[in-house]
Amino acid sequence: MPKTILLTGGAGYIGSHTALEMIRAGYEVVVADNLSNGSRESLNRVERLTGVRIRFYQADVRDARALEDIFIECDIGGVVHFAGLKAVGESVEKPLLYYRHNLDATLSLLEVMARRGVGTLIFSSSATVYDPACAPVYTEDAPLKPVNPYGWTKFMCERIIKDACAAEKGLSALLLRYFNPVGAHESGLIGEDPRGVPNNLMPYISQVAVGRREYLTVHGGDYPTPDGTGIRDYIHVSDLARGHVAALDFLLANPCVDEINLGTGRGCSVLEVVKAFERASGRPIPYRIGPRRSGDIAAFWADATKARKKLGWEARHDLSEMCADAWRWQSMNPGGYEL
Ligand code: NAD
Ligand code: WQD
Repeated sequence: MPKTILLTGGAGYIGSHTALEMIRAGYEVVVADNLSNGSRESLNRVERLTGVRIRFYQADVRDARALEDIFIECDIGGVVHFAGLKAVGESVEKPLLYYRHNLDATLSLLEVMARRGVGTLIFSSSATVYDPACAPVYTEDAPLKPVNPYGWTKFMCERIIKDACAAEKGLSALLLRYFNPVGAHESGLIGEDPRGVPNNLMPYISQVAVGRREYLTVHGGDYPTPDGTGIRDYIHVSDLARGHVAALDFLLANPCVDEINLGTGRGCSVLEVVKAFERASGRPIPYRIGPRRSGDIAAFWADATKARKKLGWEARHDLSEMCADAWRWQSMNPGGYEL
């Protein structure tokens, strides 16, 4: 019998791509999402791509009673916990909202897992937990020191999960620290659909390319990097999704508690991404160099060794494929899922 895995926040960007890869790997997938930043249509499209129906519940993870009903009805055997708020700038403006939301969601999930005796958890953490003083290469044992409330919620959720694992023999967890997920499934049917003005580089560039925005503002051209622009470890979202499958396979066979980076181990600058996107789309990306964005650092990327050694996973797609797939999604769906 395949294990039934609950994806909280599975109608979002990373969740929908992970649902697809998990179904392809033979898992049965159940999604609980309150649709605050996700779309039911993303799952319709995953169903189209896989030919498999996904059990979907429009539910808030903070609502423990609703969550427990799902565990009972679907006989959940493990959880991937994506659900949460993720906008760094908004977290600085509304810190209490972020602490309340992200901590409550994780606490209520852990309580329900304990009550139902479910012991396998994969958690969406972030490279933003690391102390920027350790940049540019982050290894998992680097000191942690987030610089914004969003990052602190990830730090605190990691702590809470580890403490729960220490207290409960049957609970095991992998804390996956994502670097910069970008791109879309190669079909162009699912992808990132940000609401409002995109905060992140790749969706912003995509919207410039498709004519929804006039030009890109490059946040800083005077960093101590070869071309003066910021360097990040961009990872194709389908590679990231396969990383979750590898993590789940591993955790089910080897119960443990550990943190693992999911990145490529390579950094690219903003201008390298712009040039790669121009090549992939055949469209010019007008840009203007602006001031640095507050809270940004010059450069960081993952040490991706642990994921390779422990999970047998590594990223396959390079920047040109990330841009080609982001462009396919954007040009096939210029208004996202709704239009
Ligand atoms: P997303 O916003 O597209 O997906 C999150 C999903 O969770 C959305 O569908 C939203 O509707 C849902 N959700 C939010 N709060 C909920 C709640 N209380 N109950 C039920 N559903 C809820 O974001 P994403 O980019 O797919 O990110 C997924 C996870 O990965 C998040 O936890 C995020 O913090 C983390 N992460 C994302 C990135 C990134 O750059 N995208 C990087 C590192 C970590
Ligand atoms: C990438 C580079 C910008 C937009 C964020 C979160 C992090 C994680 C991933 C969740 C930087 C530059 C961007 C623009 C630009 N999310 N840029 N013009 O900031 O590395 O990481 O997303 O966990 O926590 O902080 O990603 O895509 O915003 O920026 O020049 O319009 O692109 O300065 O160098 P970031 P990003």
